[in-house]
Amino acid sequence: STASWWKGKKLLVTAGPTREEIDPVRYLSNYSSGKMGFAIAEMAASLGAQVTLISGPVELATPAQVERVNVVSTEDMLQQVLSRYEETDVVIKSAAVADYTPIHVAEKKIKKAGESLLLELKKTQDILQTLGEQKKHQILVGFAAETNQVEEHARQKLKKKNLDFVVANDVTEEGAGFGTDTNIVTIYHRSGEKQELQKMSKSDVARKLLELVATYYE
Ligand code: PMT
Repeated sequence: STASWWKGKKLLVTAGPTREEIDPVRYLSNYSSGKMGFAIAEMAASLGAQVTLISGPVELATPAQVERVNVVSTEDMLQQVLSRYEETDVVIKSAAVADYTPIHVAEKKIKKAGESLLLELKKTQDILQTLGEQKKHQILVGFAAETNQVEEHARQKLKKKNLDFVVANDVTEEGAGFGTDTNIVTIYHRSGEKQELQKMSKSDVARKLLELVATYYE
């Protein structure tokens, strides 16, 4: 059964936002609360998986039977994920990772001066894409947070990042995406198949996702 498939599986879940430092008192980030990733970690642990949860700064308690690793920046998250990748069976990347980071971190607080301020950013390394390139036996599940052309962008991410599944959410829909207790997702598999879920709690989304992964691989 799908429940027994998860028993003993090594699962890596990422959750929450990353923070990119600007100066000693400021950072760039996003609205991720960590709820989606924590719900996945909790559900998987209850199915008997060995779960490591790599989390950006969030205000959530660690679920029972879950090993938690706290990170701050995209670079930290990349290192923590990569160092565990070899021994991992499944990776689920629900974290909202910064795509850009300041080129320079100011050593001292940036003083208020001119009428405008230009902050120069450089691309961060795409963690999921790196995992896709180094994939051997692992099952890779990405998320796609979209505001338009959800299906098209989700399928592009699936292909470009060499994923097995992508969980797409339209973050402009009410009751979906950042911060809410519910989500509305469509799960795409690399075969081209998709499963559309209606609005439900993040915990139920987690259950459905874990069941779907097990159905494909049991
Ligand atoms: O945390 P909550 O408040 O519960 O909100 C849940 C959520 C909206 C954050 C979640 O459902 C979600 O959509 N997570 C993915 C957010 C995101 O960064 O999406 P993206 O489309 O920008 O990135 C696509 C995928 O690449 C993601 O799996 C992301 O983790 C990964 N990525 C992106 C950039 C990067 N440098 N490295 C990555 O690994």
